[in-house]
Amino acid sequence: MKRSPLLLLLVLAIASLSLAACGQQPAGDGDAGEVAPPQPPAEYAAMTNPFAGDATAAATGQVDYESYCQSCHGSGGKGDGPAASSLDPKPGNLAELVKTASDGYIFWRVAEGGMMAPFNSSMPAWKDVLNQDQIWQVVTYIETFN
Ligand code: HEC
Repeated sequence: MKRSPLLLLLVLAIASLSLAACGQQPAGDGDAGEVAPPQPPAEYAAMTNPFAGDATAAATGQVDYESYCQSCHGSGGKGDGPAASSLDPKPGNLAELVKTASDGYIFWRVAEGGMMAPFNSSMPAWKDVLNQDQIWQVVTYIETFN
């Protein structure tokens, strides 16, 4: 049986189109749901909490948490502070976050906030308000929500 060259061309065209589509990376604009969770930049990724498990640091961090974080994140970090309901996106559950997130991820999110892609949130950047030790103390306190 003689095959139509036109049909062959069509098949080739479809094949090359779908190959081209496979080669494309997802845009990763943060609202697709199925994109991988964002990773901290290298300078944050390797950080570890120098105060991990230190009760004094956690107590100091609690004072800053109550001043700077609780209004949005809530007293137990569940994302249910008095300001939370007016926010979009809403503050996540820090008590859940600390079960899985690395120190570097948490420090990064506190230091740099969320006013950029892919977060585009009202989470403030704290690196110009709190010094590095103060951020770690707050992180140490948050880690007690675990
Ligand atoms: C104005 C409200 C507001 C305040 C104040 C605030 N946050 Fe947030 N925060 C948010 C929102 C909204 C999100 C969720 C969106 C995002 O991830 O950027 C968030 C996200 C986070 C995350 C990342 C959560 C995740 O699941 O990745 C951490 C960690 C965090 N905040 C810690 C803090 C700490 C610590 C403070 C105080 C020093 C603080 N936040 C103060 C609104 C706030």
